Amino acid sequence: MTHIKTCIINCLTLAALLIVSPAFSASDDAKKLNRHTGSGDPVAGKAKSQICQGCHGVNGNSLDEFMPKLAGQYDEYIIKQMKNYLAGIRSHEIMNGMASPLSDQDIADIGAYFSKQEIMKGRGWTNDERGVEIYTKGGDRSKMVMTCLHCHGERGKGLDQSTAMYPVIGGQHKAYLVKQMVDFREDDRLNSPNTIMNKIVRSLSDKDIEAVSEYLSVQ
Ligand code: HEC
Ligand code: HEC
Repeated sequence: MTHIKTCIINCLTLAALLIVSPAFSASDDAKKLNRHTGSGDPVAGKAKSQICQGCHGVNGNSLDEFMPKLAGQYDEYIIKQMKNYLAGIRSHEIMNGMASPLSDQDIADIGAYFSKQEIMKGRGWTNDERGVEIYTKGGDRSKMVMTCLHCHGERGKGLDQSTAMYPVIGGQHKAYLVKQMVDFREDDRLNSPNTIMNKIVRSLSDKDIEAVSEYLSVQ
């Protein structure tokens, strides 16, 4: 009960922030959105990210379901994740090690490079309608105070530059999305601001997580 109350307070604070930002963008606008909001140099980042592209794919379009795509991700979000891996606030055997030899400038440059790539894309169709319900309306669970759409934008493609801390999730691999949501629900990933994602995902069943991930992964 307490966590639901805290969630309501946190969500309302975030809602207030969103009201002052431009309205939810149409999906076409979202595609044109500038995701390079930091000071990194994408040209330097291209060279520095060669090792990363070994796992995250050419231009950040990985082919492996468990390696997240980084193409068109906000650089601010990438930078935050790298710093979280470096500090051990987000744990992953490979990524904790990958982050350690990098300077702040390297991280900013690499983030800039990936953010400048064409936005990640899924296969474009699904026969699962439950996912869209959860994503846009919270499914049949009135417990969810804000739906995913409010923060992650139409089809998971992000809102605008002022909300660059809310990652692009539309077009991301399904297996990766499922893993992150289960990690949030089980408190194995605790790095979202005010643990907001842990609170949001808490009410979702395995089936709900599967459905919303299916919906997002095809976008
Ligand atoms: C050997 C494979 C491998 C290499 C090389 C690698 N990564 Fe990763 N990376 C992963 C995996 C696996 C994950 C998912 C980890 C998790 O579940 O937390 C990940 C996660 C990430 C994330 C979080 C993505 C998100 O959507 O939250 C970022 C950012 C990232 N890597 C950046 C990099 C950068 C920058 C480099 C190069 C310096 C790099 N990675 C090199 C395998 C790799
Ligand atoms: C109040 C805003 C908010 C709402 C509502 C919200 N999210 Fe998030 N979400 C975030 C933030 C902020 C992060 C980034 C956490 C971090 O910094 O590590 C995130 C991260 C994620 C990630 C991890 C992405 C990655 O690349 O690792 C997934 C998956 C995700 N959200 C899915 C969802 C789904 C599905 C819903 C609806 C059930 C939802 N979110 C609702 C704010 C929100």
